[in-house]
Amino acid sequence: MAKFTVVDHPLIQHKLTIIRDKNASTKVFREVTNEIAMLMAYEVTRDLPLEEVEIETPLAVTKQKQIAGKKMAIVPILRAGLGMVDGILSLVPAARVGHIGLYREHDTLEIVEYFAKLPLDIKDRQVFVVDPMLATGGSAISALKQLTEKYGVDKENITFVCLVAAPEGVKALQEAFPTVNIFTAALDECLNENSYILPGLGDAGDRIFGTK
Ligand code: PRP
Ligand code: URA
Repeated sequence: MAKFTVVDHPLIQHKLTIIRDKNASTKVFREVTNEIAMLMAYEVTRDLPLEEVEIETPLAVTKQKQIAGKKMAIVPILRAGLGMVDGILSLVPAARVGHIGLYREHDTLEIVEYFAKLPLDIKDRQVFVVDPMLATGGSAISALKQLTEKYGVDKENITFVCLVAAPEGVKALQEAFPTVNIFTAALDECLNENSYILPGLGDAGDRIFGTK
């Protein structure tokens, strides 16, 4: 089984409390979501492989490390995943960004796919799929199926990054994609009768974009 990591650094917990508060403004929600994503990127990229390179400092020739291996792609699940992209890019500015647009239909929870635009060489990249919420897991599983079945991305090269996960979603995603590492800032209690995460933070897309 791949890694499941709760990135619970005090700064992240503090910032998550700010955006869980129903009184947080759209501006604050958007800014702090990106800040959390940036802090998580530090941990999420911890296992990136390094290689040795020879460089010259002003005083000596020396062998030092640089990031090696596959180039990165960040793939937000629209809409809410967009809220994490700038934060991650502030740490890895050269990463490519692909987009997968889908939403869960309100009453049936059926996944509706409406957009996909990915880097041409996506199958050769280390892919970080981002979405603030992992609730039932339906959206994440659908996005990962697209990436692997339609675009040829290797399951071993995908990492899923969210802010708040429900145990139900983690279980479903691990069963569907056992090799995918999952990083979350919090593992919450459960889903409510409408499959929203409790205590959660509400509808992430609506809160990031101020649509409700
Ligand atoms: C939210 C969220 C996830 C999904 C999680 O998106 O951003 O994509 O729900 O729920 P699941 O794990 O049960 O699939 P939503 O469907 O509300 O779409 P939106 O971001 O366009 O509002
Ligand atoms: N989608 C959200 O935006 N929030 C939840 O709690 C569950 C799904």
